Amino acid sequence: MFEKFIRTKDIGRILQEADQTTGLRKTLSAWDLVLLGLGATIGTGIFVLTGIAAAEHAGPGIVLSFILSGVACIFAGLTYAELASTVPIAGSAYTYSYATLGEGLAWLVGWNLILEYAVSVASVAAGWSAYAVGLLNTAFGIELPKAFTACPALGGIIDVPAALIVLLLTYLLVRGIKESAKLNNILVYIKVGAVILFLLLALPHVNTANWTPFMPMGFSGVTAAAALVFFAYLGFDAVSTSAEECKNPQRDLPIGLIGSLLGCTLLYILVSAVLTGAIPYTDLRTAEPVAYALKALGYKIGSALVAVGAITGITSVLLTTLYGQSRIFFAMSRDGLIPNKVCKIHSRYGTPYIITWITGVLVAATGSLFPIDEVAEMANIGTFFAFITTSCGVLVLRRTNPNLHRPFKCPAVYIIAPLAILMCGYLSLQLPAITWIRFVVWTGLGIVIYLCYGMQSSKLNQNTNNSASS
Ligand code: ALA
Repeated sequence: MFEKFIRTKDIGRILQEADQTTGLRKTLSAWDLVLLGLGATIGTGIFVLTGIAAAEHAGPGIVLSFILSGVACIFAGLTYAELASTVPIAGSAYTYSYATLGEGLAWLVGWNLILEYAVSVASVAAGWSAYAVGLLNTAFGIELPKAFTACPALGGIIDVPAALIVLLLTYLLVRGIKESAKLNNILVYIKVGAVILFLLLALPHVNTANWTPFMPMGFSGVTAAAALVFFAYLGFDAVSTSAEECKNPQRDLPIGLIGSLLGCTLLYILVSAVLTGAIPYTDLRTAEPVAYALKALGYKIGSALVAVGAITGITSVLLTTLYGQSRIFFAMSRDGLIPNKVCKIHSRYGTPYIITWITGVLVAATGSLFPIDEVAEMANIGTFFAFITTSCGVLVLRRTNPNLHRPFKCPAVYIIAPLAILMCGYLSLQLPAITWIRFVVWTGLGIVIYLCYGMQSSKLNQNTNNSASS
């Protein structure tokens, strides 16, 4: 049984499959990749969680939290860049693990990527709802009843806008609406524009007295917030799934991954510094802190504009991430680890409609019934797991396959990869015990499903059986 758990998929075979599936045009430039990364990344994390993380954990020290999680992501991003350029096939960390650490761990990575993608979408949808409800109020004076705009833990019954936006986007994805690089670029310009507008309006109101005390809940508050706002960086790995579509992956993938990460880190540091400088951190416990701050400073129109930018930006994250989830399911079903049936392609729309709807309905339920920060913590822990296994994978592959052609090599890999593992491990330990318990239960469930289903039905297993019987 253990042999099955650790059997790996041959890199040559993976690349052959990549060749077969490559009908994709190599059109993406380095700049497109940077924008793709920003498109999938800037969303609820900065527009929503910053306020909660500052008010409850870090105070103005939230700036340090963003730096800490940003550095962890940059290290992990470098290892992603190496594997993405070496094994350029959809499935991201799941595929890398299949090639390096074995089928069982790959399954668990894929299983936990569901947390990163599907669960993060739920949290992002709740953020979208907060901004949409706030905008309706600011711009049109419409007050929607709390019962239908908040989850039970926050005093409501169900967050209807969160559920509706997910179901609408799911429908669009089923109909085959795919974000083009061009549309994504426009959405990114709008949301970055919103962030810059916020900075320009709020900067003159920064009162340095608001930054004292800088770490009201100590350094442990800063690290707890770092583990939470790590969420703001999720999505940059979407760049790695476009490896087959860029003109020059060797040069452009690392630029896309690291460029978008550096861009986000810079924006996040500026926003959190200005936010906590302009408004006392204790007032920021709101689900729309950036728009709230402008409203409190007297910029009603500016606040509405920023809210529109936030909604646009968050929508692009939702769409990209829901799409990414279906790609990962797809890679897993191609390997036989989940039933082919649920990944059936719609005869007219050419999309995996069953799994897209299953994902959409589950996400809509989660996003409308659970509080945003708890859901985000689950997404983070799944991603820490994926980053740690990818960093281990890059080290293993350097030893097991030293001569493999690597278009991009992570610099100082024996320092960077262990640092990525240590930092992600450390940050994951800052998450609350309840998140860990849920993660252990989720992973246990994943192991049971693998043992009962994936281990037997995996294509690799069937190929082995076939060759043994012939
Ligand atoms: N990074 C994404 C966001 O913050 C998930 O919305």
